[in-house]
Amino acid sequence: MEKKNLDWGNLGFEYQVTDKRYVSNYKNGAWDEGALVSDDTLVISEDAGVLHYSQSVFEGLKAYTTEDDHIVCFRPDMNAARMCDSAQRLEMPAFPQDRFVKAVEEVVKANAAWVPPFGTGASLYVRPVMFATGRVIGVKPANEYQFRIFVTPVGPYFKGGVKPIVVKISDFDRAAPRGTGHVKAGLNYAMSLHALEIAHHEGFAENIFLDAATHTKLEETGGANILLVDRSGNLVVPKSDSILPSITRRSIVDVAKNHLGMNVIEREVFLTEVDNGDFVECGLCGTAAVISPIGKINDHGKEICFESGMEEIGPVMKKLYDTLTGMQSGRIEAPAGWVHRIM
Ligand code: PLP
Ligand code: COI
Repeated sequence: MEKKNLDWGNLGFEYQVTDKRYVSNYKNGAWDEGALVSDDTLVISEDAGVLHYSQSVFEGLKAYTTEDDHIVCFRPDMNAARMCDSAQRLEMPAFPQDRFVKAVEEVVKANAAWVPPFGTGASLYVRPVMFATGRVIGVKPANEYQFRIFVTPVGPYFKGGVKPIVVKISDFDRAAPRGTGHVKAGLNYAMSLHALEIAHHEGFAENIFLDAATHTKLEETGGANILLVDRSGNLVVPKSDSILPSITRRSIVDVAKNHLGMNVIEREVFLTEVDNGDFVECGLCGTAAVISPIGKINDHGKEICFESGMEEIGPVMKKLYDTLTGMQSGRIEAPAGWVHRIM
């Protein structure tokens, strides 16, 4: 198969239309059999539930080429399961998890020419999305939905790849206790956009959101979980019911404990601890972000500088990054089932 003629090494994190997408519609209480289609657009009613009451959930995973030239993706079963949790929280019908994984395989195969070659640093971002197409005018769940998966080749989420970034402590809240922060609902991102635009305007790469109840604890950024390393070398991971259970973070915790023999502490992390200099390294993790080191956090004008600095990723984050990406690319043996071969 001939690859598309793209400048693979210089892709940004941008959408471009690829050849095929998978679509299944839900009507009369059941999902139809689904199919690959060419049309990247859709026509929906002006009264579709998604437009008014924001019934929309999504996922993100990556397919990529391994060193031995297979196309694989990383733990798609975890995305399938999380999408069911998200759907349930928004009163949407779950898309069957086995069908989710098969649909990912089908779309990636159909777009194999768009999967970046090994060694380019790029990957094929896979975006499953589900939304209410049924008409609603009173506030209630719709009775028709569409599940769709499209793909687009991407480069690094943050410009500069694994160069340290500077983030700010946001003045806005992302997720309320007992709200929807723990699911991947589009509404969580809509409400983060204003804060993100302000952060970008001020020169920051992202926002760190604090817990909405007390504004004292680190939660996560708009699109990634947070990792920290304390002065004893422990990996410290903020714990909260209102952050997204990142598949990357859960994989890193597993790798740190079981592969690297590190001590991992999952607990509430207070901003005062970070302010006090209790941590030597900090980073973001997620499918899009992979592991992006944080060099500085700006807390309302006060700069919190990590010892790892602004030049390069710190030694612990680097070890985690190398091990995780090594497992993803097949250089290091990953736990069974993590690397899912597609072709
Ligand atoms: N947190 C938020 C808010 C996200 O949008 C994402 C991205 O998916 C993550 C964390 C990272 O999750 P994952 O590692 O499953 O991609
Ligand atoms: C991801 O990492 O897949 C995300 O969804 C984060 C962002 C692009 C929304």
